[in-house]
Amino acid sequence: MSVVQPPDYVKHSDLIQWVSDMAALCKPDAVYWCDGSETEYQAMCDKLVQAGTFVKLDEKKRPNSYYAKSDPSDVARVEDRTYICSIRKQDAGPTNNWIAPKEMKETLGKLFDGCMRGRTMYVIPFSMGPIGSHISHIGVELSDSPYVVVNMNIMTRIGKKVMETLGTNGDFVPCIHTVGMPLAAGQKDVEWPCNKDQKYIVHFPEERAIWSYGSGYGGNALLGKKCFALRIASNMARDEGWLAEHMLILGAESPEGEKTYVAAAFPSACGKTNFAMLIPPPEMKGWKITTIGDDIAWIKPGADGRLYAINPEAGYFGVAPGTSPKTNPNAIISCSRDSIFTNVALTDDGDVWWEGLTDTPPATLTDWQGNAWTPESGRPAAHANARFTSPAHLNPAIDAAWEDPNGVPISAFIFGGRRATTVPLVYQAVNWNFGVYAAATIGSEMTAAAAGALGQVRRDPFAMLPFCGYHMADYFNHWMQIGRELSNPPRIFVVNWFRKNAEGKFMWPGFGDNMRILKWVVERVHGRASSIESPLGWMPRYNDIDWTGLDFTPEKFYELMSVDREAWKAEVLSHEELFAKLYDRLPKEFLYMRELILSGLWRSPEKWGAHPERE
Ligand code: GTP
Ligand code: SPV
Ligand code: MN
Repeated sequence: MSVVQPPDYVKHSDLIQWVSDMAALCKPDAVYWCDGSETEYQAMCDKLVQAGTFVKLDEKKRPNSYYAKSDPSDVARVEDRTYICSIRKQDAGPTNNWIAPKEMKETLGKLFDGCMRGRTMYVIPFSMGPIGSHISHIGVELSDSPYVVVNMNIMTRIGKKVMETLGTNGDFVPCIHTVGMPLAAGQKDVEWPCNKDQKYIVHFPEERAIWSYGSGYGGNALLGKKCFALRIASNMARDEGWLAEHMLILGAESPEGEKTYVAAAFPSACGKTNFAMLIPPPEMKGWKITTIGDDIAWIKPGADGRLYAINPEAGYFGVAPGTSPKTNPNAIISCSRDSIFTNVALTDDGDVWWEGLTDTPPATLTDWQGNAWTPESGRPAAHANARFTSPAHLNPAIDAAWEDPNGVPISAFIFGGRRATTVPLVYQAVNWNFGVYAAATIGSEMTAAAAGALGQVRRDPFAMLPFCGYHMADYFNHWMQIGRELSNPPRIFVVNWFRKNAEGKFMWPGFGDNMRILKWVVERVHGRASSIESPLGWMPRYNDIDWTGLDFTPEKFYELMSVDREAWKAEVLSHEELFAKLYDRLPKEFLYMRELILSGLWRSPEKWGAHPERE
């Protein structure tokens, strides 16, 4: 290995030492320091086109955009290959995979030895959050994947300016990534290099270090996202008294011009991007939604006793299927240029397509595996977890304060999941503690965002089950403690856009119509909307919701809002299952709150909600 020669502007000796050590271990043919420039981005894309990883899309239809299809074995996050290697097993907790750091380092040491042979090691300095914000943090990813470099360029702020901020001794989180497919001399590369047999997504929380082996896809490989901004940052946040969350952040502006910022946590592929970019129904005149972020929020207490949030990312890695000019026009505009599409289908005229983009599919396509496809093929043309990588600044609804280094004040938290039954459309927790309980016990049907049992309901506390980098019950305690310290905590709400009727159809129109529920949330925060007490918390009555422009009967509404005693008995039992798992560190309050919820359910009637007479 030749000497690792950094550019002049790199003056951080510990960083240079680490890069040298990693290069000595991984044995790449070359080391390249990314400056983050436009020229560099274009050169990398050209290189990816030559390698066959990228197809350049039609310049008129989709300017400066590229298409990639991954190896069929590398299409989503691999939760069963994701590890939190804390020193003590108890600190990772029962919901994370754990291997002793020493043992894991031995395994990784062997796997990484020579893993970059025949490839270039790219050094990617990146800032999570606006450069220079007191809420932001810096990481440096070493990767042998140019696909990762160009995606990181869109998803985060990378390059020279970050290196300059680091100076001679700034803090950074070291992140090392390899596709795990070294090339022997003269060996021809494949379009999507990865390791089909072995994948390891590893976090050392005490060391604040990340090692990722064998995958080139999404959160497995773009280490700023789930690995740093959630799993490592949740550890930093616990130690330092802030929150790192799987949340979108939006601004809701009323017709009077009053702005209310709301953060919402839904599990993967459960509607964060859609909600963050929502366009209100035209009849709800004067309401406007602006986006701060669509996936991750870093939230710190301010001197005024409120919580302030930033979006640590600079782009969207959004689920393509289901995204259309009808469901999410702002996302469609965000990916109209300067974007990368992975595992969608390719049209004959050099554009992209996915299920749901248009009502009628094109007559012929190339599917995400490179095969000819027609509507008669009987299989999806795009993978269910196909994604677009797009710059946030292209979103027409981007909030003016989205790069404000001080963040925006959060007035409400919303939690939700994908539940065909049991959970009503919306309710407000009676206070912070009950809200933390509700968030901790959220259940959701699994989606294609992770390899696993599709459709199965699992507890996904705070939508953080795959992302909390320490003991989940300690995380609940951290949330309880934050509540104790805030003089003006955000109000907490639960929503479920996904309840289905007996015919298996969604009962709620969703998308833009979610504005009706969001309006109630906003009005509640400001003490203006009325509500009624329910076994779960505060609920809107039919007349508390703005129905202008939508024909939705009280009967349908109360069906959607119903709370059934038998169903909730089962639900509370499954809370109990989670609590038993987390028993040794569970907040003591949770057991009492569970009892209070049960006692509320025992009040008449057995099915609460279908009571228009309560109006
Ligand atoms: P990650 O990026 O994986 O964290 O997920 P996300 O929460 O940002 O997911 P996204 O918004 O991309 O969710 C996409 C899926 O949710 C698509 O299948 C959408 O059709 C569906 N979806 C989003 N909003 C709604 C809604 O209001 N109602 C219904 N029924 N489906 C929705
Ligand atoms: C998720 O799965 O929640 C995502 C996509 O946002 S990934 O970055 O691949 O984790
Ligand atoms: Mn996500």
